[in-house]
Amino acid sequence: MKVKNICCIGAGYVGGPTMAVIAKKCPEIKVTVVDINQARIAAWNDEDVNNIPVYEPGLGEIVAESRGRNLFFSTDVDGAIDEADMIFISVNTPTKTYGEGKGQAADLKWIELCARQIARVAKGDKIVVEKSTLPVRTASTLKDILEHTGNGPHFQILSNPEFLAEGTAVQDLLEPDRVLIGGSQDEGGQKAIQELVNIYAHWVPKEKILTTNVWSSELSKLTANAYLAQRVSSINSLSELCEHTEADINEVAKAIGTDSRIGPKFLKASVGFGGSCFQKDILNLVYISRTYGLHEVADYWEQVILMNDHQKRRFAKKIIRTLYNTVSGKKISFLGWAFKKDTNDTRESAAIYVADYLLNEQSYIAVFDPKVKSEQVFMDLDRLNTRNPEENRKYVKTETDPYKACEGSHAVAVLTEWDEFTGYDWQRIYDSMLKPAHVFDGRNLLDKDKLKSIGFQVHVIGSSD
Ligand code: NAD
Ligand code: UGA
Repeated sequence: MKVKNICCIGAGYVGGPTMAVIAKKCPEIKVTVVDINQARIAAWNDEDVNNIPVYEPGLGEIVAESRGRNLFFSTDVDGAIDEADMIFISVNTPTKTYGEGKGQAADLKWIELCARQIARVAKGDKIVVEKSTLPVRTASTLKDILEHTGNGPHFQILSNPEFLAEGTAVQDLLEPDRVLIGGSQDEGGQKAIQELVNIYAHWVPKEKILTTNVWSSELSKLTANAYLAQRVSSINSLSELCEHTEADINEVAKAIGTDSRIGPKFLKASVGFGGSCFQKDILNLVYISRTYGLHEVADYWEQVILMNDHQKRRFAKKIIRTLYNTVSGKKISFLGWAFKKDTNDTRESAAIYVADYLLNEQSYIAVFDPKVKSEQVFMDLDRLNTRNPEENRKYVKTETDPYKACEGSHAVAVLTEWDEFTGYDWQRIYDSMLKPAHVFDGRNLLDKDKLKSIGFQVHVIGSSD
């Protein structure tokens, strides 16, 4: 079989960009991305590529190049499954919010629905690719469903987890550190692996395409995220120690990161990691370990989450403590709401939890983020169910002008490391604020000395004030 037609179920942060890059690099293959969310598909099809639903530097151009040629976005899931030789499943796999494993296990109901739909619709043999991040051994569930509910065709199941990071998705997809493909070790499995290798080989050097058994591939994805998050929690734990000892976390990070065995990346102390995956994937790893009775393994990884929760809470507490132990009725300005720069994604962003903590203390919050829409901020807060939507709208305002957001406030808190924040007219911001004017830099982003010379009281993560 030579793959001529690909379908991807799920047009989200992974499905959209990944398929756009495959379509760009493989112009002879028809790629159709399908989703049940009509609004999302309509946005992917918007004539103006500035309106596509995922903001990623460079993505608009890639979509514009291939869309309508060999890249299509559609809500006709059945039609696309029927046509495809290879089907990627790239649907959401959030933490379960109910029942057994609530708060830890991955909710696989959307994955199962996809498998059942593929089985119902498929008339010919197909390769099914797990693109979503899944618990180790999910491939056996998929196989079971496909074989028992299908109409006779054969299915090969591959695991091909995605390692892109948001904000750099296009770059990560064009020049990945590696591509990982897991499949069964029999002849059919090896042939299927080769089909997928051939697709990536259009632009990825062969030595960067790793092939493994399916279970190693599934587990490696959870492990990679756990390792990355563990580095952030490790450096964040030390940032607290720095604040008590006059050591400086940036200096410590540099000193340890120059050891080639440690390496310099992912050592940036912050207000806490966010994003849709780190927490969910570690919780999943913890859950899986516990189901095998491996409690020490589970406890070890759980600590990464506990440290992250602590970091978010302690940032909020520091604001309260510094503002004379009360923020009631005080305006605090948030620069940034996204979980990192260069994305409009706010899932699990530290900003949400810091805001929630301050709102419990009756502060007013003004939010400015260059890419996050106002309704998203309120959706994030409403979803917590800490207070009713009216209260959230009473105490929180969103602004489209950063200077307006900072006007009349007691403190500015930097929650996301957007580059543009460094270029602001900080004298103007200072002049418009109540005094003493505080800056709480949750990202170690701003020039501390410059702010101090203007008159700000500056508080950064990981160094004493
Ligand atoms: P997302 O929520 O942005 O997108 C998932 C899409 O799937 C949604 O648009 C949803 O409507 C659609 N969907 C759900 N069930 C469907 C069905 N039965 N039929 C058709 N469409 C359906 O999620 P995402 O961020 O793209 O993540 C997808 C997966 O990739 C997750 O498992 C995640 O852990 C993993 N992942 C995410 C990232 C990231 O940076 N966001 C990176 C690597 C891996
Ligand atoms: C992460 C991984 O980096 C990707 O490889 C993976 O594919 C993805 O999760 C996923 O599975 O979803 P992402 O969450 O998009 O990507 O972004 P990261 O750059 O990893 O940042 C995650 C969080 O950690 C952000 O809140 C970021 O601000 C924070 N972080 C990161 C730090 O606080 N310090 C650092 O040094 C690095």
